[in-house]
Amino acid sequence: MLLEVDDLHVYYYTKRGIVRAVEGISFALDRAEIMGIVGESGSGKSTLGLAIMNLVPSPGRIVKGSVRLNGRDLTKMGEKELREIRGKEIAMVFQDPMTSLDPLMRIGDQLVEAMLAHEDMGKEEARKRALELLEEVGISKDRFNDYPHQLSGGMRQRVMIAMAVSLNPKLIIADEPTTALDVIVQDQIMDLFSKLREEFGVAIILISHDLALELKVSDKIGVMYAGWLMELSNADDIAKKPLNPYTRELLKAIPNVELEDQELVSIPGSPPDLHEPPSGCRFHPRCPDRMPICEKEEPPAKTVDGRLVKCWLYGR
Ligand SMILES: Nc1ncnc2c1ncn2[C@@H]1O[C@H](COP(=O)(O)OP(=O)(O)OP(=O)(O)O)[C@@H](O)[C@H]1O
Ligand SMILES: [Mg+2]
Repeated sequence: MLLEVDDLHVYYYTKRGIVRAVEGISFALDRAEIMGIVGESGSGKSTLGLAIMNLVPSPGRIVKGSVRLNGRDLTKMGEKELREIRGKEIAMVFQDPMTSLDPLMRIGDQLVEAMLAHEDMGKEEARKRALELLEEVGISKDRFNDYPHQLSGGMRQRVMIAMAVSLNPKLIIADEPTTALDVIVQDQIMDLFSKLREEFGVAIILISHDLALELKVSDKIGVMYAGWLMELSNADDIAKKPLNPYTRELLKAIPNVELEDQELVSIPGSPPDLHEPPSGCRFHPRCPDRMPICEKEEPPAKTVDGRLVKCWLYGR
């Protein structure tokens, strides 16, 4: 296994109290696999992504669990070791490329610099590779000397992806990489991720609140709610036979082209304040299938037909 996350707990210690942003999350990811992480705002998706890189900002902290990359636990590593892993073995792509790109530097030079900083290569070689990478992500070579503001949002995101793959990472964590882009460009970026996975064998964790988008490219999908992993299974099963009522509710909110007059329903209510999460199952106040036990006890994570589900419907 490339990545093994085991019983991960991440809390933020704020003035108002403890925010249990990620609790008891476990999963594994293989080489060349694409895993979607989906959930509403505040469910802990970004915190999980940051925790995998051991980059949770203060006042947050990994309080329990492990993150193994090729068997080595990142939660036990020092800053020096981590810096080598970030970028070189795990790369991250964020929603807004403008915050990560230097506005005063030509995009080609930014790519070259990133490679020179990490890799043992000469300037000419880095330049050649940068041109190849731009082509790889679908940006024409004559854009090499453009500044970030001269590119469209979609092109900037492609540059960020080129930066991410430039160091041949084994894993890319993309946090809402296309949220600010229109649907057509979103699809193009998803195609690009699929291509990169096939060509380089890179594994990708795709974080998004958009389940429809996740279903297009992911091999498997983890559904998060209020810091918990509610369900984890392959994308087809999630779409055809969701186990957790929360997953079912998320699916109901996706426009279905076959059922033209299907009513789009968003899930009633809103996600809980994680300073004081609901008792028992954190989803119980909004769950259409809730039973008396749901507000009393936390449901166990169970394996059902090889799929993981955390819900009292599946018993003890
Ligand atoms: N730096 C921080 N300090 C305190 N609490 C934080 C911090 N960052 C995140 N949180 C809290 O942790 C919880 C999870 O937040 P996180 O950003 O991981 O969610 P998310 O699923 O990525 O949401 P979104 O879809 O809005 O990006 C939220 O309750 C949030 O308020
Ligand atoms: Mg987020």
